[in-house]
Amino acid sequence: MTATVNTTTVETARVDAATIDASTIVLGIETSCDETAVAVVMGGTDVLSSVVSSQLDEHSRFGGVVPEIASRAHLESLPHVTAEALERARIDYSRVDAVAATVGPGLVGALLVGVSAAKTTALALDVPFVGVNHLEAHLYAALLDEPRAEFPLLFVLVSGGHTLLVEMRDTHSYRVIGQTIDDAAGEAFDKAARFLGLPFPGGPAIDKAALRGNERAINFPRAMLNDGLDVSFSGLKTAVINHVRANPQVATDDVAASFQRAVVDVLVHKARRAARDVGARTIALGGGVAANSLLRRELAAAGATEGLAVVLPSREMCTDNAAMIASAGWYRLARGESSTLDAGANPNLKLGTGQR
Ligand code: KG4
Ligand code: ZN
Repeated sequence: MTATVNTTTVETARVDAATIDASTIVLGIETSCDETAVAVVMGGTDVLSSVVSSQLDEHSRFGGVVPEIASRAHLESLPHVTAEALERARIDYSRVDAVAATVGPGLVGALLVGVSAAKTTALALDVPFVGVNHLEAHLYAALLDEPRAEFPLLFVLVSGGHTLLVEMRDTHSYRVIGQTIDDAAGEAFDKAARFLGLPFPGGPAIDKAALRGNERAINFPRAMLNDGLDVSFSGLKTAVINHVRANPQVATDDVAASFQRAVVDVLVHKARRAARDVGARTIALGGGVAANSLLRRELAAAGATEGLAVVLPSREMCTDNAAMIASAGWYRLARGESSTLDAGANPNLKLGTGQR
């Protein structure tokens, strides 16, 4: 099971899919943003270990992720996070059948740390290297938590960098059917929170403040509600700013609650419509914003009304981790694909293109 090393192109290397089975162990590495994560997954779904080292403290005083700090922190953390992942899985390198790493999208310097480490390890062990699309991996995260989820499945991927509605017909085929035309949902939370003087990251801070606020206090806009499956959040952000400037005495908790209600109304409305369009049997949620308490509650209620199963993964599987990278890597290997050792990082990788 050796990948073909091609030094001139980034073509997909072939592996013998027949050798990939329930005992195949993939070491996964995730360094696309501010989490250094390494995991060991067997057979695509059996998580033997998943270690996540967050850099949140190093970035929070700057109010956002600083790319240069992220790259350096990955460089420092990766060796011991990897050692811990192997130790917790009770295996050594000799048991690793393939090494998978996020090749994009993300911060290029941060991605390169993980990609270089993964390629070096794969070369040294003489096993395949698998470049993984981070967004594709988020889809597999939900399946790690709920392997019996029924297809077709409508996946709502809401993170700091992305807002996507994805139709999955099975584990191997998916299609983006809706996305944000401007800010990502998490970005909207972070920007609104920053304006309201709440701590970074903004999502959890708004979630908490909203519990004390009145979500009907302000009727913020729900852009493009009946307009296809794409979403837009930049007008909402501007509406928050304008409202607070015009009403400096307004209670922050009420703004937070009304803002959160507007975001969740839009996401749930679009998810329901998309699920109907594709004849989904399941709606699954993923990405950091999937931790939002109102979104989880409302999506579960919408699923009950529509007669659909709703997969609300654990917090660990919603946020960035390497188990989902190893899992996505296993599925690529099972399709007979791996990556050549000259594959680089692609900070702008889209879902459904490039490494697929
Ligand atoms: O997926 P993630 O960990 O990182 C990437 O963007 O890839 O997502 C982070 C985002 C941040 O924007 C954060 O504010 C948001 O997820 N978030 C939340 C909540 N927890 C995290 N947004 C709303 N409510 C939350 N409880
Ligand atoms: Zn992510």
